[in-house]
Amino acid sequence: MYAKIQETATWLKNRISTQPETAIVLGTGLGRLAEEIVVKERIPYSEIPNMPVSTVEGHSGCLLIGELGGKDILAMQGRFHFYEGYSMKEVTFPIRVMYELGIKTLFVSNAGGGTNPSFSIGDLMIITDHINLFPEHPLHGPNFPTGPRFPDMSEAYDKQLIALADSIAEEKGIKVQHGVYLGTQGPTFETPAEYRMFRILGADSVGMSTVPEVIVAHHCGIRVFGMSIITDLGVEGQIVKVSHEEVQKAANAVQPLMAEIMREMIRRS
Ligand code: HPA
Repeated sequence: MYAKIQETATWLKNRISTQPETAIVLGTGLGRLAEEIVVKERIPYSEIPNMPVSTVEGHSGCLLIGELGGKDILAMQGRFHFYEGYSMKEVTFPIRVMYELGIKTLFVSNAGGGTNPSFSIGDLMIITDHINLFPEHPLHGPNFPTGPRFPDMSEAYDKQLIALADSIAEEKGIKVQHGVYLGTQGPTFETPAEYRMFRILGADSVGMSTVPEVIVAHHCGIRVFGMSIITDLGVEGQIVKVSHEEVQKAANAVQPLMAEIMREMIRRS
């Protein structure tokens, strides 16, 4: 695995003309945030050695090299999900490559089902913490020398970045929620009983991604900031049928606000 990571990182270093220290992973329905990026290079995953290829609709599968908030950035347009059949090592492969490329800060975004009864569809939730319910751990197996065997997880989401996001949201009059994101394998959305269980466990939002990437980034010492767009509600009395298309539509509607916060954070950090 390490040899593959090295090979991919070396290939990208030769291909990319900048040295970005910030990376963004664009989740479901959030690919349009890419339009905010001044793109200098667009590299399809299929051209990148050892890179898994994204299969899910709404994820176009490109690495974007460009500028956001006046800074060089690298963005993953399309991520790899466990439910697609990838192993956790594959899901988190790009994060390990990012570390080798010198990425210091990672912005992650996703669509999530809100389990907090005070949330509404279209809310932006700053992720303050997570609950990992994936059936396989991304750090399972021999330890990578990027971090300790038993990594501390007391601050997986950087408090300074959360404070910065809060002040930018307040300045711009953008309403943000805070909460715990629970990562589960999917691909089924939750039954009402499962949403209730996740709420009892402490979740404010539930989704099928992000947690593996955040664990690996944190293990590599990369600072993480995450946002979840609430695209549907897993709250008793408000549960309706949900489809991937509706999730994408709801996410599309709010992504300019998320983009505004992230762009400004990158500018100031
Ligand atoms: N559950 C799981 N994943 C999701 C949801 C949900 O309700 N909404 C968007 N992604």
